[in-house]
Amino acid sequence: MMRLAGKTAMITGAARGIGRAFAAAYVAEGARVAIADINLKGAKAAASEIGDAAFAVALDVTDEASIANAVTEAAERLGQIDILVNNAAVFTAAPIIEISREDFARTFEINVAGTLFMLQAVAQHMIARGIGGKIINMASQAGRRGEPLVAVYCASKAAVISLTQSAGLNLIEQGINVNAISPGVVDGEHWDGVDAFFAKYESKSPGQKKAEVGAAVPLGRMGTAEDLTGMAIFLASSESDYVVAQTYNVDGGQWMS
Ligand SMILES: NC(=O)c1ccc[n+]([C@@H]2O[C@H](COP(=O)([O-])OP(=O)(O)OC[C@H]3O[C@@H](n4cnc5c(N)ncnc54)[C@H](O)[C@@H]3O)[C@@H](O)[C@H]2O)c1
Repeated sequence: MMRLAGKTAMITGAARGIGRAFAAAYVAEGARVAIADINLKGAKAAASEIGDAAFAVALDVTDEASIANAVTEAAERLGQIDILVNNAAVFTAAPIIEISREDFARTFEINVAGTLFMLQAVAQHMIARGIGGKIINMASQAGRRGEPLVAVYCASKAAVISLTQSAGLNLIEQGINVNAISPGVVDGEHWDGVDAFFAKYESKSPGQKKAEVGAAVPLGRMGTAEDLTGMAIFLASSESDYVVAQTYNVDGGQWMS
Protein backbone atom coordinates (compact mmCIF):
# COMPACT_ATOMS: atom_id res chain seq x y z
CA MET A 1 0.00 0.00 0.00
CA MET A 2 1.28 3.48 -0.83
CA ARG A 3 1.85 5.34 2.43
CA LEU A 4 1.17 8.86 1.09
CA ALA A 5 -1.66 8.08 -1.33
CA GLY A 6 -3.72 11.23 -2.02
CA LYS A 7 -1.40 13.44 0.07
CA THR A 8 0.18 16.71 -1.04
CA ALA A 9 3.60 18.02 -0.08
CA MET A 10 5.72 21.14 -0.46
CA ILE A 11 9.48 20.56 -0.16
CA THR A 12 11.85 23.52 0.01
CA GLY A 13 15.33 23.31 -1.50
CA ALA A 14 14.26 20.27 -3.53
CA ALA A 15 16.02 21.14 -6.80
CA ARG A 16 18.86 18.81 -5.80
CA GLY A 17 20.27 16.60 -3.07
CA ILE A 18 18.21 15.38 -0.14
CA GLY A 19 15.09 17.45 -0.95
CA ARG A 20 15.01 16.09 -4.47
CA ALA A 21 15.30 12.50 -3.21
CA PHE A 22 12.42 13.19 -0.79
CA ALA A 23 10.29 14.54 -3.67
CA ALA A 24 10.90 11.37 -5.71
CA ALA A 25 10.20 9.15 -2.68
CA TYR A 26 6.96 10.98 -1.82
CA VAL A 27 5.74 10.67 -5.42
CA ALA A 28 6.60 6.95 -5.37
CA GLU A 29 4.41 6.68 -2.23
CA GLY A 30 1.45 8.31 -4.01
CA ALA A 31 1.84 12.01 -3.11
CA ARG A 32 1.84 15.06 -5.37
CA VAL A 33 4.76 17.39 -4.64
CA ALA A 34 5.66 21.07 -5.11
CA ILE A 35 9.44 21.35 -5.55
CA ALA A 36 10.18 24.84 -4.18
CA ASP A 37 13.64 26.28 -4.68
CA ILE A 38 15.54 29.49 -5.34
CA ASN A 39 17.07 27.58 -8.26
CA LEU A 40 13.93 27.47 -10.43
CA LYS A 41 15.74 25.95 -13.40
CA GLY A 42 16.99 23.07 -11.22
CA ALA A 43 13.54 22.68 -9.65
CA LYS A 44 11.95 22.38 -13.10
CA ALA A 45 14.54 19.80 -14.18
CA ALA A 46 13.93 17.78 -11.00
CA ALA A 47 10.14 17.94 -11.46
CA SER A 48 10.28 16.85 -15.09
CA GLU A 49 12.50 13.87 -14.16
CA ILE A 50 10.24 12.86 -11.27
CA GLY A 51 7.10 13.03 -13.42
CA ASP A 52 3.59 14.49 -13.63
CA ALA A 53 2.98 14.35 -9.87
CA ALA A 54 5.75 16.92 -9.27
CA PHE A 55 6.01 20.56 -10.31
CA ALA A 56 8.40 23.44 -9.64
CA VAL A 57 7.67 26.58 -7.63
CA ALA A 58 10.01 29.58 -7.28
CA LEU A 59 10.89 30.25 -3.64
CA ASP A 60 13.41 32.32 -1.74
CA VAL A 61 12.95 31.47 1.94
CA THR A 62 14.58 34.77 2.97
CA ASP A 63 11.85 36.82 1.25
CA GLU A 64 8.44 37.17 2.92
CA ALA A 65 6.63 37.96 -0.36
CA SER A 66 8.28 34.99 -2.07
CA ILE A 67 7.16 32.67 0.77
CA ALA A 68 3.58 33.99 0.53
CA ASN A 69 3.50 33.61 -3.28
CA ALA A 70 5.05 30.13 -3.22
CA VAL A 71 2.67 28.83 -0.53
CA THR A 72 -0.33 30.30 -2.40
CA GLU A 73 0.81 28.79 -5.71
CA ALA A 74 1.55 25.38 -4.17
CA ALA A 75 -1.80 25.35 -2.34
CA GLU A 76 -3.69 26.28 -5.51
CA ARG A 77 -2.00 23.67 -7.66
CA LEU A 78 -2.11 20.92 -5.01
CA GLY A 79 -5.59 21.80 -3.67
CA GLN A 80 -4.10 22.00 -0.16
CA ILE A 81 -0.74 21.39 1.52
CA ASP A 82 -0.74 18.35 3.85
CA ILE A 83 3.03 18.08 4.32
CA LEU A 84 5.86 20.64 4.45
CA VAL A 85 9.52 19.66 4.41
CA ASN A 86 11.71 22.59 5.45
CA ASN A 87 14.87 21.43 3.72
CA ALA A 88 16.45 24.53 2.11
CA ALA A 89 19.70 25.53 3.82
CA VAL A 90 23.24 26.65 3.16
CA PHE A 91 26.50 25.41 4.65
CA THR A 92 29.15 27.81 5.82
CA ALA A 93 32.43 27.38 7.66
CA ALA A 94 35.27 29.52 8.94
CA PRO A 95 37.58 29.72 11.94
CA ILE A 96 35.98 31.77 14.74
CA ILE A 97 38.33 34.72 14.21
CA GLU A 98 37.36 34.96 10.51
CA ILE A 99 33.53 34.76 10.78
CA SER A 100 31.89 37.78 9.17
CA ARG A 101 28.66 39.41 10.27
CA GLU A 102 27.36 39.16 6.67
CA ASP A 103 27.89 35.39 6.51
CA PHE A 104 26.34 34.89 9.96
CA ALA A 105 23.27 36.95 8.94
CA ARG A 106 22.85 35.19 5.58
CA THR A 107 23.15 31.72 7.13
CA PHE A 108 20.68 32.46 9.91
CA GLU A 109 18.32 34.19 7.46
CA ILE A 110 18.15 31.06 5.26
CA ASN A 111 18.56 28.21 7.77
CA VAL A 112 16.69 29.62 10.78
CA ALA A 113 14.37 32.46 9.73
CA GLY A 114 13.63 30.62 6.45
CA THR A 115 12.61 27.51 8.38
CA LEU A 116 10.50 29.45 10.89
CA PHE A 117 8.63 31.64 8.42
CA MET A 118 7.98 28.84 5.91
CA LEU A 119 6.67 26.76 8.81
CA GLN A 120 4.52 29.70 9.92
CA ALA A 121 3.06 30.31 6.43
CA VAL A 122 2.19 26.65 5.87
CA ALA A 123 0.83 26.27 9.44
CA GLN A 124 -1.43 29.29 8.80
CA HIS A 125 -2.68 27.58 5.63
CA MET A 126 -3.30 24.28 7.46
CA ILE A 127 -5.11 26.02 10.33
CA ALA A 128 -7.26 28.15 7.97
CA ARG A 129 -8.34 24.99 6.14
CA GLY A 130 -8.77 23.03 9.38
CA ILE A 131 -6.76 20.16 7.91
CA GLY A 132 -3.88 19.56 10.32
CA GLY A 133 -0.72 18.24 8.73
CA LYS A 134 2.91 17.24 9.01
CA ILE A 135 5.90 19.58 9.08
CA ILE A 136 9.42 18.14 8.89
CA ASN A 137 12.47 20.34 9.49
CA MET A 138 15.95 19.35 8.35
CA ALA A 139 18.32 19.63 11.29
CA SER A 140 21.81 18.08 11.36
CA GLN A 141 24.25 16.32 13.65
CA ALA A 142 25.97 19.73 13.41
CA GLY A 143 23.11 21.02 15.57
CA ARG A 144 23.83 18.47 18.30
CA ARG A 145 27.38 19.63 19.04
CA GLY A 146 29.69 22.46 17.97
CA GLU A 147 32.63 21.95 15.63
CA PRO A 148 35.78 24.09 15.66
CA LEU A 149 35.46 25.43 12.09
CA VAL A 150 31.69 25.25 11.66
CA ALA A 151 30.32 27.53 14.40
CA VAL A 152 27.65 29.39 12.43
CA TYR A 153 26.18 26.40 10.59
CA CYS A 154 26.20 24.33 13.82
CA ALA A 155 24.42 27.14 15.70
CA SER A 156 21.85 27.48 12.91
CA LYS A 157 21.02 23.77 13.06
CA ALA A 158 20.84 23.84 16.89
CA ALA A 159 18.27 26.61 16.40
CA VAL A 160 16.31 24.37 14.00
CA ILE A 161 16.16 21.63 16.68
CA SER A 162 14.93 24.18 19.24
CA LEU A 163 12.34 25.65 16.85
CA THR A 164 11.10 22.14 16.11
CA GLN A 165 10.47 21.62 19.83
CA SER A 166 8.62 24.93 20.34
CA ALA A 167 6.61 24.75 17.11
CA GLY A 168 5.85 21.08 17.73
CA LEU A 169 4.43 21.83 21.18
CA ASN A 170 2.50 24.87 19.97
CA LEU A 171 1.00 23.44 16.77
CA ILE A 172 -0.02 19.97 17.94
CA GLU A 173 -3.10 21.69 19.42
CA GLN A 174 -4.10 22.33 15.79
CA GLY A 175 -3.36 18.76 14.66
CA ILE A 176 -0.04 19.73 13.08
CA ASN A 177 2.89 17.42 13.91
CA VAL A 178 6.24 19.21 13.73
CA ASN A 179 9.34 16.99 13.85
CA ALA A 180 12.86 17.04 12.45
CA ILE A 181 15.41 14.74 10.85
CA SER A 182 19.05 15.01 11.88
CA PRO A 183 21.28 13.52 9.18
CA GLY A 184 24.97 12.85 9.68
CA VAL A 185 27.19 13.12 6.60
CA VAL A 186 25.32 12.70 3.32
CA ASP A 187 27.26 12.59 0.07
CA GLY A 188 26.22 14.94 -2.73
CA GLU A 189 26.85 18.45 -4.05
CA HIS A 190 26.49 19.94 -0.54
CA TRP A 191 29.34 17.76 0.72
CA ASP A 192 31.46 18.53 -2.37
CA GLY A 193 31.54 22.09 -0.98
CA VAL A 194 32.29 20.91 2.57
CA ASP A 195 35.14 18.74 1.27
CA ALA A 196 36.59 21.70 -0.66
CA PHE A 197 36.44 23.87 2.49
CA PHE A 198 38.38 21.32 4.57
CA ALA A 199 40.85 20.78 1.75
CA LYS A 200 41.68 24.48 2.14
CA TYR A 201 41.62 24.81 5.94
CA GLU A 202 43.09 21.45 6.93
CA SER A 203 45.47 21.10 3.95
CA LYS A 204 43.75 17.94 2.74
CA SER A 205 43.62 16.56 -0.79
CA PRO A 206 40.25 16.65 -2.63
CA GLY A 207 38.05 13.78 -1.42
CA GLN A 208 40.16 13.16 1.70
CA LYS A 209 37.71 14.70 4.18
CA LYS A 210 34.84 12.70 2.69
CA ALA A 211 36.87 9.49 3.02
CA GLU A 212 37.73 10.32 6.64
CA VAL A 213 34.18 11.20 7.73
CA GLY A 214 32.79 8.14 5.95
CA ALA A 215 35.26 5.85 7.73
CA ALA A 216 34.33 7.44 11.08
CA VAL A 217 30.62 6.58 10.73
CA PRO A 218 29.85 3.46 12.86
CA LEU A 219 27.99 1.95 9.90
CA GLY A 220 31.17 2.48 7.85
CA ARG A 221 30.25 4.95 5.09
CA MET A 222 28.76 8.34 4.32
CA GLY A 223 25.00 8.35 3.89
CA THR A 224 23.10 8.84 0.66
CA ALA A 225 19.99 10.98 0.25
CA GLU A 226 18.05 7.74 -0.20
CA ASP A 227 19.16 6.58 3.28
CA LEU A 228 16.94 9.35 4.69
CA THR A 229 13.76 8.79 2.68
CA GLY A 230 12.32 6.11 5.01
CA MET A 231 12.29 8.55 7.94
CA ALA A 232 10.92 11.34 5.72
CA ILE A 233 8.03 9.11 4.61
CA PHE A 234 7.33 7.95 8.18
CA LEU A 235 7.19 11.53 9.52
CA ALA A 236 4.90 12.58 6.64
CA SER A 237 2.51 9.64 7.08
CA SER A 238 -0.24 8.84 9.56
CA GLU A 239 2.14 6.29 11.16
CA SER A 240 3.76 9.25 12.99
CA ASP A 241 0.53 10.82 14.32
CA TYR A 242 1.69 10.35 17.96
CA VAL A 243 5.19 11.76 17.30
CA VAL A 244 5.52 15.39 18.41
CA ALA A 245 8.46 17.85 18.56
CA GLN A 246 11.16 15.19 18.06
CA THR A 247 14.44 15.28 16.15
CA TYR A 248 15.43 11.86 14.78
CA ASN A 249 19.05 10.97 14.07
CA VAL A 250 19.47 9.17 10.73
CA ASP A 251 23.24 9.06 10.62
CA GLY A 252 24.62 5.53 10.60
CA GLY A 253 25.12 5.57 14.38
CA GLN A 254 27.04 8.82 14.77
CA TRP A 255 24.94 10.45 17.43
CA MET A 256 22.88 8.97 20.28
CA SER A 257 20.14 10.95 21.95
N1 LIG B 1 24.36 16.76 3.02
C1 LIG B 1 24.60 16.56 4.30
O1 LIG B 1 25.62 15.92 4.68
C2 LIG B 1 23.67 17.08 5.35
C3 LIG B 1 23.88 16.70 6.68
C4 LIG B 1 23.04 17.16 7.68
C5 LIG B 1 21.99 18.00 7.34
N2 LIG B 1 21.79 18.36 6.03
C6 LIG B 1 20.67 19.25 5.75
O2 LIG B 1 19.79 18.62 4.82
C7 LIG B 1 19.20 19.62 3.97
C8 LIG B 1 19.50 19.31 2.51
O3 LIG B 1 20.90 19.16 2.33
P1 LIG B 1 21.54 18.88 0.90
O4 LIG B 1 22.81 18.17 1.14
O5 LIG B 1 20.55 18.28 -0.03
O6 LIG B 1 21.88 20.41 0.46
P2 LIG B 1 22.04 21.05 -0.99
O7 LIG B 1 22.98 22.20 -0.82
O8 LIG B 1 22.41 20.00 -2.00
O9 LIG B 1 20.57 21.59 -1.35
C9 LIG B 1 20.04 22.74 -0.75
C10 LIG B 1 18.98 23.33 -1.66
O10 LIG B 1 18.47 24.51 -1.01
C11 LIG B 1 18.28 25.50 -2.01
N3 LIG B 1 18.30 26.84 -1.41
C12 LIG B 1 19.38 27.52 -0.93
N4 LIG B 1 19.02 28.74 -0.51
C13 LIG B 1 17.67 28.84 -0.70
C14 LIG B 1 16.72 29.87 -0.48
N5 LIG B 1 17.09 31.07 0.02
N6 LIG B 1 15.43 29.64 -0.78
C15 LIG B 1 15.06 28.44 -1.32
N7 LIG B 1 15.92 27.44 -1.59
C16 LIG B 1 17.22 27.62 -1.28
C17 LIG B 1 19.43 25.27 -2.99
O11 LIG B 1 19.16 25.87 -4.26
C18 LIG B 1 19.51 23.76 -3.04
O12 LIG B 1 18.68 23.22 -4.07
C19 LIG B 1 19.78 20.96 4.44
O13 LIG B 1 18.91 21.53 5.41
C20 LIG B 1 21.09 20.56 5.09
O14 LIG B 1 21.54 21.52 6.04
C21 LIG B 1 22.61 17.91 5.03
